Amino acid sequence: MLVLGIESSCDETGVALYDSAVADPARALLSHRLHTQAAMHEAYGGVVPELASRDHIRRLLPLLEGVLEDAGRTRDDIDAIAVTEGPGLVGALLVGTAFAHALAFAMKIPVIGIHHLEGHLLSPLMSEDPPSFPFVALLVSGGHTQLMHVTGVGQYAMLGETVDDAAGEAFDKTAKLLGLPYPGGPSLARLAEFGDDQAFALPRPMLHSGNLDFSFSGLKTAVATAARHAGNTCDAVKADLAASFQRAAVDVLVAKSMSALKATGSKRLVVAGGVGANRLLREELAATVAKRGARVYFPALAWCTDNGAMIALAGALRIERDGPPVAHGLGFGVRPRWALDAIASPS
Ligand code: KG4
Ligand code: ZN
Repeated sequence: MLVLGIESSCDETGVALYDSAVADPARALLSHRLHTQAAMHEAYGGVVPELASRDHIRRLLPLLEGVLEDAGRTRDDIDAIAVTEGPGLVGALLVGTAFAHALAFAMKIPVIGIHHLEGHLLSPLMSEDPPSFPFVALLVSGGHTQLMHVTGVGQYAMLGETVDDAAGEAFDKTAKLLGLPYPGGPSLARLAEFGDDQAFALPRPMLHSGNLDFSFSGLKTAVATAARHAGNTCDAVKADLAASFQRAAVDVLVAKSMSALKATGSKRLVVAGGVGANRLLREELAATVAKRGARVYFPALAWCTDNGAMIALAGALRIERDGPPVAHGLGFGVRPRWALDAIASPS
């Protein structure tokens, strides 16, 4: 079955073609294209939702034509469409879903609405050496920070999550505070390379909370306070602040991930979402997990941030498990707020 995947929940338009007849998920992805709006939003220091929606409208059709051309297929070859139904920006989601449903209606093929985080969660399966179920997933994106126990496709049990800011949000807000360009996470990580991560004693929020929840808003405030006390925030001090912040955030993410492995008895940790691209997080997790005799799996960098491939994959796996969704009329909806455990079936 040839599944077209469409992602438009935030500031990236992603389209991909996935052939579920190919058994190996690393090879089943026939083509994918992505347009990132980062340059457009940069001037505003963050995503402007209305601009995001309008840009998705401009990009979708050329991206679709591009992936068909790359894969040497035509529209008539597509058997089903998987589209991000939520969570995300309502206008941005509406553009992708309206596009998907209009195309599906015209072509008389079914559409399956995908949870964006399920896409992230399953994205490490598209590798040469994918993890097998069950595993613990650390989902670290701009909007979410969650530890999940994944026992199969659609079988997700929440172990812990952030009580305030998401990890990516904390990176972005701290970067903004330091006057770094948008998107903040990668900018802060780059600057941190030049800093001393011991220069500022920042808190490790909820490290000893006794549960698997996170909190990041206090960390960002601690950086603001430290910057004020330092008075002179020259480039070297900024680099020290960035490095100290990154170290504190990574320490907490690593410690909680280890506790989740211990609590579930799992030997596999999967890291997904944009912050999964962070080099220090990758290095620290790899070293710490190895000490426990466990393994950590990272999606390829291209699959860490938003993309259409993970949506096509999630759609294909759901269809494989549940059969194709029934094609219906013109009605459709989006779910800007949508908890991942709401789509989980009992394991
Ligand atoms: O998964 P994603 O592309 O979008 C959401 O679904 O949110 O994640 C984007 C988040 C942003 O907050 C971005 O700053 C962060 O991931 N990010 C990073 C890095 N690359 C992206 N954070 C820290 N270090 C990075 N290298
Ligand atoms: Zn995402």
